[in-house]
Amino acid sequence: MSEARDRHSHEPDDARDSPAVARQRCLDFATMHSEVPVYARIVAGMADDDDAIALLCSAAPGQARPVLLLAALHELTMLQPDTAAAQWFSPDATLDRGDPWPDVRRTIDAHRDELRTVVAGRSTQTNEVNRATYVRAMVSRAAADLPDTPVTIVELGASAGFLLGFDDYRVTVGEVTVGPEGTGVRCRAENRGAPVALDLPPICARVGVDAHPIGPDDTDDLRWLRACIWPEMPGRIERFDAAVEHLRSDPPELVRADMVDGLAQVITTHRTPGSHLAVFSSWALTYVARERRTGIADVLADAAADGPVSWVTAEPPGCVPGLPEQGPTDDAADRLTGTVVGARRWRDGEELPAQVWGSVHPHGNWINLH
Ligand SMILES: C[S@@+](CC[C@H](N)C(=O)[O-])C[C@H]1O[C@@H](n2cnc3c(N)ncnc32)[C@H](O)[C@@H]1O
Repeated sequence: MSEARDRHSHEPDDARDSPAVARQRCLDFATMHSEVPVYARIVAGMADDDDAIALLCSAAPGQARPVLLLAALHELTMLQPDTAAAQWFSPDATLDRGDPWPDVRRTIDAHRDELRTVVAGRSTQTNEVNRATYVRAMVSRAAADLPDTPVTIVELGASAGFLLGFDDYRVTVGEVTVGPEGTGVRCRAENRGAPVALDLPPICARVGVDAHPIGPDDTDDLRWLRACIWPEMPGRIERFDAAVEHLRSDPPELVRADMVDGLAQVITTHRTPGSHLAVFSSWALTYVARERRTGIADVLADAAADGPVSWVTAEPPGCVPGLPEQGPTDDAADRLTGTVVGARRWRDGEELPAQVWGSVHPHGNWINLH
């Protein structure tokens, strides 16, 4: 099994989630996720099993979630395909084969220490390739008033950088398809809203910022990202594997930095003079402490002195400072699960009114823009 990064070892034991909290999360998952029946049944088994709950509670505070133990088991079965649980973590697993829990329980017993190391040291970390559907739509709309100005792209919280390649993928939104035909990375979204434009000006530079960037040779980390994918969801693993291949053939530049403290330097170093600076974040700003988030807008307002700037976001409701309110804007907002698309833009040095453009599925499966 991979060396799990011990990112959380400084956390005091008494801050860890209680068994009651972990069990409730398992019960919630088992009742709310009928779209993945095998995973839902495994998690129902966890909820009833004191040893499984104890294992889950070795996670860092806030992380004792069934998806973490599922990912740890998925990774174990990738590394050791002869384990009893392996057949239940394959894309063709179905409850027609019977009850997965006894095999999973046997695997937990046989590999408890390895699983505990992973659960204690990792967090679930999703870099979902299909989000390229909404990233392309957001950048296209941000550049609509500057169709001939080349764009410098900066992604905040880029993880492995899959979304930085959004224009290299074949992307379909509703009836519109763009991108190279020959690529193996195919992303698709249903269009539930207004017609979506996907055309782009030339992209002259691109860079991702992440506190823990994952490079194309970080085999253990890429395997963990893959393990976080639910195998029962058709096409996701195949798309991920194709995106890893693309990443290896053409790795994006990733800077290891805090997205607030490091942003000004990244812009200074990477922005092409005369270009439109388009910064995007997707399910990343929500991990930054609420009171620090305005720091990003401050940096971008300064950058607007050197040319047009757009900041487009796909984050939970109430997450992004300065967007028109969409519900609670305190910490409760970060527990909401919707994905709101919004834009803050600066033109000729002045900020335009901030806009909410609509909502999207968190994995880009549908787009609903006004
Ligand atoms: C859930 S992943 C989302 C990745 C990608 N944006 C996507 O939508 O698929 C969140 C990423 O944000 C990064 N992150 C969290 N806090 C950060 C910070 N303060 N500065 C830079 N990166 C951060 C994490 O390391 C992780 O890679």
